[in-house]
Amino acid sequence: MSKPKVLVTRRWPEANEARLRDLFDVTFNADNHPLSPAELQDALRNYDAVLPTVTDPITAEVLSVEPLRAKLLGNFGVGFNHIDINAAKARGITVTNTPDVLTDCTADIAMLLMLSAARRGGEGERLVRAGQWTGWHPTHLLGTKVTSKTLGLVGFGRIARAMATKAHFGFDMPIVFFDPYPPTQAVIAHYGAKQVDRVEDVLREADFVALHCPGSPENRHLINAERLALMKPTAILINTARGDVVDNEALIQALKSKTITAAGLDVFEGEPNLNKGFLELDNVVLLPHLGSATLETRIAMGDRVIENVVAFFKGETPRDRVV
Ligand code: DGY
Repeated sequence: MSKPKVLVTRRWPEANEARLRDLFDVTFNADNHPLSPAELQDALRNYDAVLPTVTDPITAEVLSVEPLRAKLLGNFGVGFNHIDINAAKARGITVTNTPDVLTDCTADIAMLLMLSAARRGGEGERLVRAGQWTGWHPTHLLGTKVTSKTLGLVGFGRIARAMATKAHFGFDMPIVFFDPYPPTQAVIAHYGAKQVDRVEDVLREADFVALHCPGSPENRHLINAERLALMKPTAILINTARGDVVDNEALIQALKSKTITAAGLDVFEGEPNLNKGFLELDNVVLLPHLGSATLETRIAMGDRVIENVVAFFKGETPRDRVV
């Protein structure tokens, strides 16, 4: 039997690409450029499976291609807000993702942003590199203490809980959270977490607010000017979820006017073309979507996609089927 024809939209770690070469009739994106809508449509016309990632907007328009050959979108990543899931379903395409394997590393980046924004790590690094450090003094670059402060979580899924583990058990931080689909009481009790009924309650109570909800039309601009105004003036916002969960312009205004103290961001509206207003601010730590970016995790993500594709072509239900 001939091997399934598979297109991988971006380069993966070498270990994954070697496995893909063994298993499938695979095509890689040699120069690793983000594919255009027309290139994505060509892929759907010419391959049995397309393995996209967060930089590939697979819209209803892209999915309307004729003739359609692809039967599977094996997404490299847990978030799938870049894929029009309803349109995929309507066209009979199976979509899979890669949960679990990136949980810890993404939570680590949320911790890094929380610590860095609180302790002014970015500012300190820039100062030293610019040769402008004139020496220690008692009031130099004073930040905000993290240990024992309250961490507010918007969403209490896998990544939020991994952050809660590090923050609660490592930094002695009480946890308050809002999630429309909360975990069991046993899980909540494990963290000694306080569950609240509305996102506004988290914003009012927390010293640090970390966003861990999915990117979706419903969550677009969940954190807007009105909600930012509910946060403590000493509070710090962390976003490792999706850029458009926060109204980026409203956040820039809130950081400028000191409505909140600082922010740590790994994701942006319109990334990589982030709002230039962020670049003028010292009280924001900016990372280029590094949540899952460790070699171990990226290999594990690739392996998880491969597992899903193999199962699909064996006629089984892939472990991480989304639709
Ligand atoms: C995801 O998996 O959705 C991340 O944003 C990329 O790791």
